[in-house]
Amino acid sequence: MISKVFGLGLGLMLSGICHADGAAIANTGVEAAPACQTCHGPAGEGVAQAGFPRLASLGAAYLQRQLDAFADGTRVNDVMMPIASALSDADRAAVSAYYAALPEPASLAPAAEPVSASAGASLATSGRWADMLPACEQCHGPGGRGVGPDFPPLTGQSATYLSNQLTAWQTGARPPGPLGLMAVIAEKLSEAEVRAVADHYAALESAPPDSAAATPPAAGDLPGDPPRADPTAPAASAVFQPPPESELPAGEFGDVVRRGREIFIATPHAAPTYVGNSLRCVSCHLNAGRLADSSPMWAAFVSYPAYRSKTKSVATFQQRLQGCFMYSMNGRAPPLGAPELVALESYAYWLASGAPLDPKIAGRGYPALEPPAQSADFIRGEKVYAENCALCHGDDGTGQRTESGYAVFPALWGSDSFNWGAGMGRISNAAAFIKANMPLALPGTLTKQQAWDVALYMNSHERPQDPRYTGSVQGTRDNFHATGDSMYGREVAGKVLGASGGEKTDPE
Ligand code: HEC
Ligand code: HEC
Ligand code: HEC
Ligand code: HEC
Repeated sequence: MISKVFGLGLGLMLSGICHADGAAIANTGVEAAPACQTCHGPAGEGVAQAGFPRLASLGAAYLQRQLDAFADGTRVNDVMMPIASALSDADRAAVSAYYAALPEPASLAPAAEPVSASAGASLATSGRWADMLPACEQCHGPGGRGVGPDFPPLTGQSATYLSNQLTAWQTGARPPGPLGLMAVIAEKLSEAEVRAVADHYAALESAPPDSAAATPPAAGDLPGDPPRADPTAPAASAVFQPPPESELPAGEFGDVVRRGREIFIATPHAAPTYVGNSLRCVSCHLNAGRLADSSPMWAAFVSYPAYRSKTKSVATFQQRLQGCFMYSMNGRAPPLGAPELVALESYAYWLASGAPLDPKIAGRGYPALEPPAQSADFIRGEKVYAENCALCHGDDGTGQRTESGYAVFPALWGSDSFNWGAGMGRISNAAAFIKANMPLALPGTLTKQQAWDVALYMNSHERPQDPRYTGSVQGTRDNFHATGDSMYGREVAGKVLGASGGEKTDPE
């Protein structure tokens, strides 16, 4: 407290002076603030033992938000509050830009053996979906190395620092940050889990070789069984539970099931011949196709063969999978019996172990969302998007990638997204998916109206041509998009949607 008052006093005294040389502030300090490097290290690498965090290569906007929060007292820390308040706005911007531009620390001193490696790794790469807790890496990127301006790296930070932050969110000593995401997430972690996940990240090297960075999270290497769901939790008892991953079968059949899981999670990487965008099956079927109300694969498996109005014929499960590659993945259909389809089918079959053969099984598909009171509206949808979605999917809807090109946040429109023939291109499907699953980690927080508005907004942007294109947009609309549930062929902002896609080019 004393240091806070002292710091504020100095801040006022200095407020007329404008420093704003980031390197000087960091390395030699200014009147009221000691050189940052005395604690954060000469290369911004931090000092693990002392709990001084790494600053090098964290996003500038992120760093500045932290300094502002220390300065206005909403992020409580006795050491940093007076230092941040001693800096002018321009100083904070300059020193943030300085640290953001420093390279990622090459590697870290080997940390102590993690206390509970498997619980930490499991939260990091799989999450705990029984409590709607996504994997840390769905936002912090593969290996927790950070993505974009708002999602800081977790690697390169000490276990003490990481666990202090999670505890600070639990107690309100750190402001909730963008969309309040971390406050929601930290609240779901027990004390032991905070320790386990902090130890997990402290033990990872911050800069693994590039090849490792390009590998998507959890592909191939299966973390330990996620902690068992609380048996009293309502979600757990009401719907079918697929077997835990620790029960993946051994032997040759097990190998094919694992391969199917890998294709499901890392589709462009594992089935490149048939994929024409950066989406993954798991982008729209969350938690590796296990999550109820996110069109889970166990529910799909027990529902085929089935008549489909889309093709006006009875489709087998493999034929249904072919459609996903053609439309959602904007690629081409693997031939029936192709190893990719056999692997995906085997994975779905295994997930459905013990499920009743029943197309009405609870948790199938996305829960249908009745049309809202007011018909869906582009302008309202644009606002919903800016406030709830752009943080992750980008202002222009094209998502966000790591430096090695891995799409952490998938594209919602544009050339790298699903094409006009995809199920997600129907406004009703998109609204249902969004209401039940988005924003990530905050499902169910949008109203029905907001979900419809933002679904219409998303589907009012250009995307790859419908593979069933007949040679004219009008003809294609009449044949395949006449339901009123699609924006294909309609005019938005003076342009006819579907017209700029032209003929679909073979992705080969
Ligand atoms: C006396 C040691 C010390 C000095 C000097 C110092 N810091 Fe810190 N800094 C800390 C500690 C300790 C924390 C962790 C605070 C917490 O746990 O919330 C921290 C945290 C931070 C964070 C938050 C990092 C994150 O990942 O959220 C930023 C940003 C930061 N410091 C910037 C600076 C800048 C810029 C300077 C120089 C003007 C500076 N610090 C000087 C000790 C110091
Ligand atoms: C839904 C997205 C999302 C998920 C999932 C997520 N985070 Fe975060 N995390 C964020 C955002 C956004 C921030 C930046 C907060 C801010 O600006 O104050 C953040 C910041 C952090 C920080 C602060 C880093 C620093 O330098 O001070 C820690 C620690 C952290 N997250 C840990 C975790 C852990 C552990 C998990 C998994 C249990 C996790 N996060 C899952 C979105 C997420
Ligand atoms: C862009 C989002 C998206 C992607 C990516 C995606 N799907 Fe789907 N999937 C959907 C939607 C939406 C539906 C529901 C479609 C409908 O009702 O027309 C669906 C339905 C399905 C179904 C039928 C479900 C049922 O209960 O009948 C299966 C099986 C399926 N997808 C598998 C996959 C596989 C395998 C992949 C990856 C190769 C994939 N999907 C990629 C959005 C997607
Ligand atoms: C905190 C980050 C975050 C926010 C905020 C967020 N999403 Fe997502 N979204 C994701 C991630 C990550 C995925 C992929 C899921 C996976 O791989 O497990 C995804 C997937 C999707 C998909 C299916 C894949 C695709 O590219 O088409 C749609 C549609 C979508 N989000 C729409 C939205 C909408 C609309 C909003 C705002 C209401 C929103 N999201 C907010 C992170 C986010």
